[in-house]
Amino acid sequence: MAHCCGCSVRCCCWLLVLTLAALAVTAAVVFVRYKNGGQIFPLPGVPDRKYSEALAVALQFFQVQKSGKLVKNEIPWRGDSALDDGKDAGLDLSKGMYDAGDHMKFGFTLAFTGTMLSWSVLEYGEAMRAAKQRDAALDALQWIMDFLINAHPSDDVLYIQFHSESDALMNKKVGDPKADHKCWERPETMAEKRPLMKITAKAPGSDVAAETAAAMAAASLVYKPINETYSSTLLDHAERLFAFADKHRGAYTHTFPELSAFYNSTTYQDELLWAATWLYHATGNRSYLSYATGKNGKDFGDLGNPRYFSWDDKRAGTQVLLSRVSFFASKGLDDGQNKGLGMYKETAEAVMCILLPDSDTAAFRTDGGLLYVAEWNSLQHPVASAFLAAVYSDYMMTSGKAELSCSGKSFTPVDLRKFAKSQADYVLGDNPMKLSYLVGYGDSYPERVHHRGASIPADVNTGCDGQEWLKTSKPNPNVAMGALVGGPFKNDSFIDDRENVKQNEATTYNSALIVGLLSSLISSSNVAQSLS
Ligand SMILES: *[C@@H]1O[C@H](CO)[C@@H](O)[C@H](O)[C@H]1NC(C)=O
Ligand SMILES: *[C@@H]1O[C@H](CO)[C@@H](O)[C@H](O)[C@H]1NC(C)=O
Ligand SMILES: *[C@@H]1O[C@H](CO)[C@@H](O)[C@H](O)[C@H]1NC(C)=O
Ligand SMILES: *[C@@H]1O[C@H](CO)[C@@H](O)[C@H](O)[C@H]1NC(C)=O
Repeated sequence: MAHCCGCSVRCCCWLLVLTLAALAVTAAVVFVRYKNGGQIFPLPGVPDRKYSEALAVALQFFQVQKSGKLVKNEIPWRGDSALDDGKDAGLDLSKGMYDAGDHMKFGFTLAFTGTMLSWSVLEYGEAMRAAKQRDAALDALQWIMDFLINAHPSDDVLYIQFHSESDALMNKKVGDPKADHKCWERPETMAEKRPLMKITAKAPGSDVAAETAAAMAAASLVYKPINETYSSTLLDHAERLFAFADKHRGAYTHTFPELSAFYNSTTYQDELLWAATWLYHATGNRSYLSYATGKNGKDFGDLGNPRYFSWDDKRAGTQVLLSRVSFFASKGLDDGQNKGLGMYKETAEAVMCILLPDSDTAAFRTDGGLLYVAEWNSLQHPVASAFLAAVYSDYMMTSGKAELSCSGKSFTPVDLRKFAKSQADYVLGDNPMKLSYLVGYGDSYPERVHHRGASIPADVNTGCDGQEWLKTSKPNPNVAMGALVGGPFKNDSFIDDRENVKQNEATTYNSALIVGLLSSLISSSNVAQSLS
């Protein structure tokens, strides 16, 4: 067994952090009140009502997106679907979640959803519990993990892609995911074949395999105090998947070029570092830390250059997650590891500097104050960035680091939290459109979300030809509760049209990001209490 921070228990880094943080948190809260008159942070122990309510809405989208035989379903217009997924391979791959408004299950983004949900529970599980939403988060997480476990039947095989389409047989081998977009129907009435795709040693996909490893390693930490057996199973899969990803290198969209039209993974390098980092946290095995801080870190990390965190690029997330080690658990590491960690932390700080609106390196934001990186699914970057800012702010507070320097200008954890809060508030309606981009929250939200199931009445069987429900200008008959839609244009405007896919489609991973952000804002920093 590996040793970490001097104790012999797995995960003791997290435990040690818990203890240290418990000591530091009181001082941190006092510090924040002093700096800020209690305006930004709600009182400890009293969950903020607005963010708690929004969290309860956001988590419902995971119910909306579930595939398989539903258990205790609370969404009246949803039912069982895709029950035969995996049967062709002798596997039960019926669970998991649809990626967006269609019926595709993408392993790459589903795993990222699992990683982010896990991270959110690990940092902010106590806030979720105070808002009575932790069980909903765990329910969603397990639905994803059950699926990922079954999708990995042997060391070098991972099923990564499931879609529905009527003319799949035109291309027997891999099918044509585009056809899914041609067919407008409810998942419950799907009758088309659903071809499977898998990565293997000969058809590699290090990005998707490593993201799946990251998700399972992170979830193993979540489940450790809940169900030891389940936790060990997840960790075992995670370690084998990482070995597979590292040994047989390649991007899955190189292996399957037809998939690059959907989630085109720029490179697998970031996922390898991200997975190694999660595995280090989950096992305490320093060979994973050396993997990330050594040569691979230099070759793959693009350290020194701040980047935006997203489903495609895990570097900023890795930098923040490794800074957790620098902040709380760097004792006893060797020089190489410490040097590498230092570079990750420096880069994490550079990321924070572009997020802070008053920093000299501040990135562009809209007139309404939204960090704006890309037009397609524009909310993903600000929400993911705001989550990282909240986490980093809490690491600073918990460890008693009062200041962050951006080109000589000094900022505090409160400044980072203010940024995080501003992005969440924008999403929830404090924006020029006065529109909540979280469906089901507030008085005014998009009513024509690009979502097959929400757009077709529950008692209608359209077959593949439900296009009238796509084209109609009427609101969706069903509310896609918790959907975080793509978001506004650069000029803060938004068009609530069902065919406006850029702006009005929601994704499952968007929900994991907003769940993390909202949880971080429910109470004052609780890094100390988040790991149970
Ligand atoms: C740590 O992980 C490496 C790489 O997976 C493995 O070879 C080694 O046996 C592990 N060490 C321990 C102590 O578990
Ligand atoms: C723990 O997880 C296993 C699956 O790995 C399951 O069979 C068992 O019922 C779970 N135990 C509890 C107490 O939930
Ligand atoms: C996908 O990404 C690769 C690598 O960045 C790039 O060469 C390719 O053109 C991209 N394909 C599409 C369809 O965007
Ligand atoms: C805002 O930007 C979008 C996309 O560029 C454009 O179509 C729209 O006309 C603009 N709206 C206003 C009010 O300028």
